[in-house]
Amino acid sequence: MTQAHRISLKNAGNINPAKIEDYIAADGYQALKKALQMPAEKIVYELTQSGLRGRGGAGFSTGLKKKFTSEASCVLLECMRYIVCNADEGEPGTFKDRIIMEGDPHLYIEGMIIAAYAVGAEKGYIYIRGEYRQSIDMTRKALEQAAARGLLGDNILGSGYSLDIEVKPGGGSYLCGEELTLLESIEGNRGYPRIKPPFPAQKGLFGMPTLINNVETLSHIPAIILNGADWYKRIGTDQSPGTKIFTISGDVSHPGYFEADMGVTLKELIYDLAGGIKDRKKFKAALLGGAAGTFVPESFLDVNMAFESLQEKDAVLGSGAIIVMAEDKSILDMLQSILRFFEHESCGKCVPCRTGTRQLRILLEKIVTNGRAKSSNLDALLQQSEIMAKTSLCPLGQSPVLSIKSAVRHFREELQQSKNS
Ligand SMILES: Cc1cc2nc3c(=O)[nH]c(=O)nc-3n(C[C@H](O)[C@H](O)[C@H](O)COP(=O)(O)O)c2cc1C
Ligand code: SF4
Repeated sequence: MTQAHRISLKNAGNINPAKIEDYIAADGYQALKKALQMPAEKIVYELTQSGLRGRGGAGFSTGLKKKFTSEASCVLLECMRYIVCNADEGEPGTFKDRIIMEGDPHLYIEGMIIAAYAVGAEKGYIYIRGEYRQSIDMTRKALEQAAARGLLGDNILGSGYSLDIEVKPGGGSYLCGEELTLLESIEGNRGYPRIKPPFPAQKGLFGMPTLINNVETLSHIPAIILNGADWYKRIGTDQSPGTKIFTISGDVSHPGYFEADMGVTLKELIYDLAGGIKDRKKFKAALLGGAAGTFVPESFLDVNMAFESLQEKDAVLGSGAIIVMAEDKSILDMLQSILRFFEHESCGKCVPCRTGTRQLRILLEKIVTNGRAKSSNLDALLQQSEIMAKTSLCPLGQSPVLSIKSAVRHFREELQQSKNS
């Protein structure tokens, strides 16, 4: 495997994250200095050219998102723009943002200030998963340190640009990681999603144009500004430039987080980085992208981990979570815990998902009780999840179909023979 570039994790583990001096000594805040001397449109252009795609799951172009936010006109008379960093990290199997927040908090804060300047945001919020106490403390400390050095607050580095950033701890709901629900939560409302469109770039926090980016996405911005879009585009694949942090858990010898160039194969990640399958067992499957992800079989080991190559094969990269299952693990067991998870996390606002997640769980339980699935049971499960995906109000109700469909497509035989332990 070729040596991977280090972008998001270039400092984590090498510097003291509690000391801004260490970050500055590692070229920290140089990109911000450079950015503040550039016209905002040039930053948006550079980010668009770099091809950076969101690392929160959906993989949308970061530059385009900034373009839409900076060009959006306000619907209300009084107009201001917001920037929000999504640090909710609720997807099962995902723990990458935490490493950045706790290992190198200034990196993503620097990226956030540059992004805010690019879209003209005056106020920022970082929405951090409530259980991540250490991430909350480290981020708050880093914000204070940055403000004390004139890198945040009024008239940043004498540029005339001002930005205030505040930390908002989340309340523990998976759905609050969804961008529009997250905005409701910051506004102090119950975590119910809003209907899209309008998108946050048009009408976001308090009705104003809002840029929302994930922690890992923001952590790429300083390197792009310092080294240029052409440098960045040379890393990774054509349609998914850059690196990605993969979090590998389950039946591997060395579970953990690994930054690799986009396009790395699943085999390289599991066998070269995560030490292979535990106890010399054989690989059976991997769940890519967490609960809202897809099961992939052995034939995927040579597939490149990039947005486009997985999409071509009806799989998803999502947040970069890879949950590995050895030969003796049951797909049915895993599917059951995924469906229980969605039933628990459904907010109940719309009927198809409120009753649908429950029905899916019950249908699967019946299959498990029988010990094996009849073909017709599996088809019913699939059909119900497809109807739910088409009729639910928000992406949570559209998620269970992914794991069900991929399990049935790749493991129908096993599901029909399952004698669940
Ligand atoms: C149910 C649900 C949960 C989500 N949870 C997260 C999360 O914890 N963190 C995150 O960054 N994005 C999460 N997302 C994706 C966000 O809605 C959004 O796409 C992302 O914050 C955009 O940032 P990016 O463009 O930098 O990826 C979630 C989406 C859904 C549908
Ligand atoms: S799809 Fe599920 S989570 Fe989304 S609004 Fe409907 S009930 Fe709530």
